[in-house]
Amino acid sequence: MNRLKNALCERLGIELPIFGFSHSVEVTIAIAQAGGFPVFGAAREAPERIGPELAAIRARLGKRPYGVDLMYPALAGDEPSVAAARAKLPAAHVAFIEQLKAKYGVPAPTKPNFFANTVRNEAFFRAQTEAVLASDVDAVATAVGLPKAVVESAKKAGKTAFALIGSPRHVRPALDAGIDVLVAQGYDAGGHTGPIGTFCLVPQVIEAVEHEGADVPVLAAGGVGCGRQVAAALAMGAQGVWLGTAWLATREYATPPALLAKLLAARSEDTLITRAHSGKPCRVVKSAWSDEWDAPGAPAPLPMPYQHALTGELLAAIEEHQVPELVYEAAGQSIAWFNTLTTVSDIIGRLARETRAALGALETRFSKEEST
Ligand SMILES: Cc1cc2nc3c(=O)[nH]c(=O)nc-3n(C[C@H](O)[C@H](O)[C@H](O)COP(=O)(O)O)c2cc1C
Repeated sequence: MNRLKNALCERLGIELPIFGFSHSVEVTIAIAQAGGFPVFGAAREAPERIGPELAAIRARLGKRPYGVDLMYPALAGDEPSVAAARAKLPAAHVAFIEQLKAKYGVPAPTKPNFFANTVRNEAFFRAQTEAVLASDVDAVATAVGLPKAVVESAKKAGKTAFALIGSPRHVRPALDAGIDVLVAQGYDAGGHTGPIGTFCLVPQVIEAVEHEGADVPVLAAGGVGCGRQVAAALAMGAQGVWLGTAWLATREYATPPALLAKLLAARSEDTLITRAHSGKPCRVVKSAWSDEWDAPGAPAPLPMPYQHALTGELLAAIEEHQVPELVYEAAGQSIAWFNTLTTVSDIIGRLARETRAALGALETRFSKEEST
């Protein structure tokens, strides 16, 4: 018997309460094939690429359900172009970037890159949203911000609405907006994250949902890397777990070599929260990039979207040339569990096995204790 298949799995048509966020099409496909619920991260996609990409995913997934995630951060400005944003960069920041480029001998990028060519502005978010809503994706997840109009349009289009939240304060607005599934994403998580640890956040979000008299499932996100944690999340009342870091060291993700080496070697304490990635607090794997921005005399990171206007070209070059000291990616404290290159199905299989073992061990322990 598949004891992990719960009410939310039945409702969504999946086998396991394991939700996987990834920017990779191959990881998205593999999560669905392994019985989980994949959510394709489209925040780094140009709007015109989203439609064809989602159509290609659907063609490979058939009827298997999947979702798409978009971010809606509050921006410091509404810049019409990268050039307009760059024209406002402080000279000291530009000099800092030039000095980093020289210090690490970073060659110029030769390929187009999202962060070098795009400025996030209202028109960009609108175009991304329209592309997702026009697709036949089953679910839409919103992160960083929660635009009610997007949730309403997604639901009108028959899609399940997920929202990533980082505080029990976010529960009421999310329920008011009509969110169907809440993802309680704690401080431990890779990517943009809030200050409350997952173990404190998840039960508080569940209690807040109960307090509102709502029947909305909650997923636990942030730091999940093993089945003991999945069992703990289920015991706290979550209906599933949502993972992002787990997939970075899989064959499907095809992580470039220097980054892969850094991720495989990293322990929980090798990730940190920095504003140097996007201008907003974001957990990443530690590197010379985060060290340089933390060093005495370094300028403070700029607000979004100016930080990327400043750093985009250099980050593109670092990624393309895999500059070993500087290369990094968003990654959570869960990184500790992912220290060999493996496959998505191995990870999902391990999580399911470990979760069943942890739940079984609890049952055995308590039945023994009760009988003594
Ligand atoms: C490389 C990476 C990129 C991420 N980008 C996004 C994003 O664009 N939108 C989003 O909602 N969450 C993003 N996240 C956060 C994940 O959705 C998820 O909440 C988080 O990874 C869970 O914690 P974990 O990293 O410990 O598994 C990202 C996470 C990682 C690791």
